[in-house]
Amino acid sequence: MGTLHVALLANLKKDAPILPDMVEDYWADLDSEHTIDAIAEVLWERGHRVTFLEGDATLFDRLREVQPDICFNICEGHFGDSREAQVPAILEMLRIPYTGSKVLTLALSLDKPMTKRVLAFHDLPTPPFQVLELVGEPLNPDMTFPLFVKPSRQGTGMGISARSIVRDEAELWTQVKSLFGAYQEPVLVERFISGRDLTVGLVGNLVPPVAWRVPENEEAPRVHRGLRFLPPLEIELGDYAQEEGRVYTYRAKVDLADKLIYICPARLDAELVEELNWLAAATFRVTGCLDVARVDFRLDEDDGDKPYILEINPLPGLSPDISDLVIEAKAAGISYAALVNTILEEALERYGMN
Ligand SMILES: Nc1ncnc2c1ncn2[C@@H]1O[C@H](COP(=O)(O)OP(=O)(O)O)[C@@H](O)[C@H]1O
Ligand SMILES: [Mg+2]
Repeated sequence: MGTLHVALLANLKKDAPILPDMVEDYWADLDSEHTIDAIAEVLWERGHRVTFLEGDATLFDRLREVQPDICFNICEGHFGDSREAQVPAILEMLRIPYTGSKVLTLALSLDKPMTKRVLAFHDLPTPPFQVLELVGEPLNPDMTFPLFVKPSRQGTGMGISARSIVRDEAELWTQVKSLFGAYQEPVLVERFISGRDLTVGLVGNLVPPVAWRVPENEEAPRVHRGLRFLPPLEIELGDYAQEEGRVYTYRAKVDLADKLIYICPARLDAELVEELNWLAAATFRVTGCLDVARVDFRLDEDDGDKPYILEINPLPGLSPDISDLVIEAKAAGISYAALVNTILEEALERYGMN
């Protein structure tokens, strides 16, 4: 692999449009200049030429000018339900290779209910749920309190606070109304899973034929050739546990990030780690992820720590030192530079460019 011209595509917080009535966390998913500089630096250190391009409406023309060999894409997008899929769609149209998951996966994973339907189809454990579009609509019989209420298509704890745990209909509809107001999208209600919060990062790609057997053939040896699992990370809220309802809220992720306790590798027995890895690989496979992802879990303390899949993040944060994936990589002895360059190398291999 010689020197490549890599375009680093991201949406910077500082470039984000300002909208009327925007809630405080509206652009929480977007990246800081610090992250962009860090990624650019470690790609450059490997000998690549790096050009940063903002992933907005100027991108199409800029790409045609710059003509990169490959794009390192971490765009979360600004507008619409397909916002994470828009940049990959442009790249497909221009036939420019790029890192990470493609259009369908990024549109799917942004939509938590749709992702849960795919998981449920494959018998993968995800909390029972219902999607609410109207205040006061009847609840399904399996929606027993306490329930957990969250936006259908947000991330980074957006819309999630201690008030997300609701104990009766009055609390439920208050919270649902508030989310309708803030995000103008259907609300996802799930059975509340009381227990530990874990996340598992994966880097690489499933190599056929093993890839085709996940998760259909559970009896097959649990090897996932091509995928590397990072050690599970547990997030403990420490002094803030009570206030935050023991959930990983927006406040915990953003305001308290440097005050939380990150345990990596999480203290889990080997069998449970194997189970989490298997579920993470299966989620990666059925949602069609490529190169990198992070799967979020909750363990049900009322049911022998049974793991439930909450969501998959095919664009996991890459802030040096603070992002979950980066912390997990470090615990596995993988430096930030190695993590970022591995993601690039995985993509290069898929495109036959290595
Ligand atoms: N069904 C649930 N039961 C209990 N806690 C939940 C549930 N769903 C989400 N949470 C809590 O909220 C956090 C964020 O939820 P998640 O679905 O991962 O959204 P985000 O995209 O904001 O990370 C989780 O890490 C967990 O602490
Ligand atoms: Mg999450």
